[in-house]
Amino acid sequence: MKITVIGAGAVGATTADNIARANFAEEVVLLDIKEGVAEGKAQDMMQTAALLGFDTKVTGVTNDYTKTAGSTVAVITSGLPRKPGMTREELIGTNAKIVKSVVENLVKHSPDIILLIVSNPMDTMTYLALKASGLPKNRIIGMGGALDSSRFKYQLATKLNASPSDLNALVIGGHGDTTMIPLISKATWNSIPVVDFLQEHEQEEIIQKTMVGGATLTALIGTSAWYAPGAASAAMVKSIALNENKLFTASVYLEGEYGESDINIGVPVLINKNGWDKIVPMNLSENEKSKFKQSADAVRNMNNVLIDSNII
Ligand code: 2OP
Repeated sequence: MKITVIGAGAVGATTADNIARANFAEEVVLLDIKEGVAEGKAQDMMQTAALLGFDTKVTGVTNDYTKTAGSTVAVITSGLPRKPGMTREELIGTNAKIVKSVVENLVKHSPDIILLIVSNPMDTMTYLALKASGLPKNRIIGMGGALDSSRFKYQLATKLNASPSDLNALVIGGHGDTTMIPLISKATWNSIPVVDFLQEHEQEEIIQKTMVGGATLTALIGTSAWYAPGAASAAMVKSIALNENKLFTASVYLEGEYGESDINIGVPVLINKNGWDKIVPMNLSENEKSKFKQSADAVRNMNNVLIDSNII
């Protein structure tokens, strides 16, 4: 199985590296527009194969989409990352044009491909990928919720002094500092509701820290994060490649589910060889429902920028 990763920046390279180490794909093609960068990073990864014991073949190419032909999945990380103080939404003008052309090139060479979108603003870029590709909705997946849910588990684990993998927690809604909804009411610590251990102000603090998780790292590092985005992307690719049917929050096209239509936004879905399959229903409180609606309104406003500027 061939997996393509578009963009050999920090997120793309970390995604490719995690996929290679997990040793489930025959080949990973890393593509970048900067001459030599993908080739160099691919070679560097291959020089870890003997040490780490994987057989995945990682190759790098400069903007040559013919080398991506026959890919089962492509992860799109292209575009500008955010700088400190920037919102993900501010990237729309530049990234929309890049993502649209990447999608068209990928589909030309791999008509049955599944696309996993990481570029920001992620929900809008996922909507754009759906409209620009003409692919069935199940083949277009936005990555944000898997990342945000992992960040939520990190915050819960830190507060509870727990192992992050003992936590079950979901973030739904948009992948934005003000649009994501960490569902603390549903989070459990090995089946025990976390709210049993946390006072209300502690719950609120965890939610707030989760929502600005990406921005906090951008302020510290000077550019956006890559370890967790890369790990989340690779985990979703693995669930597709091995047909694991794992439940992730992902940005998918809604047609009435969760009360929304004609929008890509984060809800729980199963990820398998079909891309995303089956939106998993949940009982939300009135407050959670109203937050989801506000989040969808904000994502839709962003999508309208694409329509108003004739990009879709
Ligand atoms: C983040 O939240 C890159 O959007 C990504 O770190």
